[in-house]
Amino acid sequence: MTTDDFMPKLYKNSSAEGLVSCSAPSNIALVKYWGKHPNQIPANPSISFTLENCKTQTNLRFQKNNQSSWSFEVFLEGKSTEAFKPKIQTFFERIQKYVPFIRHYDFIIETTNSFPHSSGIASSASGFSALAYALMQIEEILSPDMDRGFFNKKASFLSRLGSGSACRSIEGDLIVWGQHPLIENSSDLYGIKYPNHVHKNFRNFHDTILLVDKGEKKVSSSIGHGLMHNHPYAKARFTQATDNLSKLIAVFDSGDLEMFIEIVESEALSLHAMMMSSNPYYLLMKSNTLNIINAIWDFRKQTGIAVCFTLDAGANVHMLYPDFAAEPVRAFIETELVKFCQNEHYIHDKLGLGAKLL
Ligand code: PMV
Repeated sequence: MTTDDFMPKLYKNSSAEGLVSCSAPSNIALVKYWGKHPNQIPANPSISFTLENCKTQTNLRFQKNNQSSWSFEVFLEGKSTEAFKPKIQTFFERIQKYVPFIRHYDFIIETTNSFPHSSGIASSASGFSALAYALMQIEEILSPDMDRGFFNKKASFLSRLGSGSACRSIEGDLIVWGQHPLIENSSDLYGIKYPNHVHKNFRNFHDTILLVDKGEKKVSSSIGHGLMHNHPYAKARFTQATDNLSKLIAVFDSGDLEMFIEIVESEALSLHAMMMSSNPYYLLMKSNTLNIINAIWDFRKQTGIAVCFTLDAGANVHMLYPDFAAEPVRAFIETELVKFCQNEHYIHDKLGLGAKLL
């Protein structure tokens, strides 16, 4: 599909006003997206687990106006939030040609997150996918004969224009975004469900997020992506990510957890290595990030239990483990790792299925 396929035909129906409500989860990348081309086109393909518990709920109220420009108000946890407006304005500008109805409506966006606001968990993936999904609900009211497959693709396509990784939150539980030579129908424009065989070891996989630092990130992801231009290792990094995704195809098929761990941990550290070798260089890991990583390595060595870590663009640690290892891993977190978490705070999450209409 090309971008033109997402241009709507004439709307059959009209709607003076209404309310749509939906929720969309966060996701955690196994192979990381870091670096992009114009129009939110990723420099390399990525794959992620969709989460279940860390999510954003959005109520979108819409009312037709007599102008040909939109307006919107944003409320986070019931409070008017000016700080979100510039990003949403940019999002609306980017998507208007694909959802032209937005030009004729005033919107009220009410949003709540299931995870604490300042937890260091990025809300942009769940936030933009929830908003894009809600806009698609409105488009479906105006154009009712849309099929589910197209609906989801377009919701992902729009989400991508808000925040790249958000396009991996519309569906679950394993999503590929970015063209990959060995993954059929993979696209730079939207996420697709991983189409190949997945071994039962990866069913009900868990992600416990250890909250190491709840503060604002010092360097935003958009600046980080930008620093991949002229980065001395960029080309090799994009090849590495593509190769790691190729290797994961065999791992998902065979259930080889040892290889899974090797790829996922290497991806996390490579992502942070890109930050540390950017110009200017920077560091998002904290000492407790490293304390947790070392403790996980020791635990794995002593017990042979298949638990590993990954990181997103921050200090928090995502611990990934199969369902059959949940009991000992959770005991290990309680006894050995909570001391490294800010206010002993962590969140148990697991694989989920994506955005939902409420
Ligand atoms: O979606 P963005 O632009 O916030 O970038 C997110 C990038 C990482 O979270 C670091 C990696 C990924 O693939 O999710």
